[in-house]
Order: sequence, then C-alpha cells, then structure tokens
Amino acid sequence: MDISIEDNLTFEEYKDLRNTTSWTKLTDTQIEKLIKNSAFKVRAKVDGKTVGMGRVLFDFGYTAYLADIIVAPEAQGKGIGRKIVERLIQLVKENVAVTDFLNFSLMAAQGKSGFYEKLGFTKREEANGYGMVMRINE
Ligand SMILES: CC(C)(COP(=O)(O)OP(=O)(O)OC[C@H]1O[C@@H](n2cnc3c(N)ncnc32)[C@H](O)[C@@H]1OP(=O)(O)O)[C@@H](O)C(=O)NCCC(=O)NCCS
Repeated sequence: MDISIEDNLTFEEYKDLRNTTSWTKLTDTQIEKLIKNSAFKVRAKVDGKTVGMGRVLFDFGYTAYLADIIVAPEAQGKGIGRKIVERLIQLVKENVAVTDFLNFSLMAAQGKSGFYEKLGFTKREEANGYGMVMRINE
C-alpha cells in the first residue's frame, strides 16, 4: 500500500470525502470558499486514489484551527488520519517563529478525541474553561 500526503485538495475531493460522513451538507459555494480560504489543505492518496483530507485555518500569528479531518471508511485504521494531521501540524509549526506561543485548537466529533490525543492534542480542563460554539443558520 503506497500512502502519500500532498499539500493540495480539490473541490471534488472535498465534496466526495465529506459525503462519506453524516455531517451537515454544504453548498457548492461554501465548499469553493472554504477551500480557497484555508491556510493549509492536504489530501492523502493510496495507490493514487484520494482517500483522506484535512485543513487548517490560521492567522499566521497566534491562532490555528484544525478542521475537516476525514478518511474514507474503507481506508480508516491504517495510519492515514495520523499522517494527515502530522503534516498539518508540521505546516503550522513551519509558519510560526519557534519562540512564539501558538494556540492550535479543534472540535473533536463524538468518540474521536482519543485520535487527537494520540497526535498531541489535550482536552481542555474545565478549570481552564470550555471550548464553545455557536451554530448559525442550522
Ligand atoms: C477520525 C479519523 C480521521 C481517524 O482516521 P484513521 O486514518 O482511521 O486513524 P489512524 O489509523 O491514523 O489512527 C491513528 C491513531 O489513532 C487511533 N484512533 C483512531 N481513531 C480513534 C478513535 N476514534 N478513538 C481513539 N483512538 C483512535 C488509532 O488507533 C491510531 O493509534 P496508534 O497510532 O497508536 O496505532 C477517521 O476515523 C474518520 O475520518 N472518521 C470520520 C470523520 C470524522 O469523524 N473525523 C473527525 C472529525 S473531528
């Protein structure tokens, strides 16, 4: 099995991978915008076929946000999600001064926090305050 990670992601790849989940459906315009405006986006290929993706929103100063980590069901459990997130962490680190504190966050889907913990993310302790979200126009 030849796994490769590439620093690119197309509209069709995003749409196909998102459709493997039960997540909220997005319009084509939303997908065009999110791809255009992501700081970093990567795809994973197995034997030339795209089977995974991830992206990062980043202000290049202090705050980065990991989003849309998806591996197609048939390709899960083979270390591909790990490779995607590791590449995105590397890209963020390469784009900030080594002395600058950076807040890299995410919203883990139900049952997925263990995956991110394996990659170095930690659950925010209640004493430090919760992460919060506002779901607009849902
Ligand atoms: C979550 C997801 C991206 C993981 O991708 P994957 O390619 O299957 O994960 P990997 O094989 O790279 O796993 C890396 C490590 O995390 C562990 N892991 C994977 N999923 C896990 C989970 N849900 N809980 C705990 N640990 C998990 C693996 O056992 C592996 O551990 P190891 O390195 O010690 O062997 C994938 O299951 C997926 O796309 N799910 C549907 C979409 C989704 O929910 N995405 C996350 C949104 S927040």
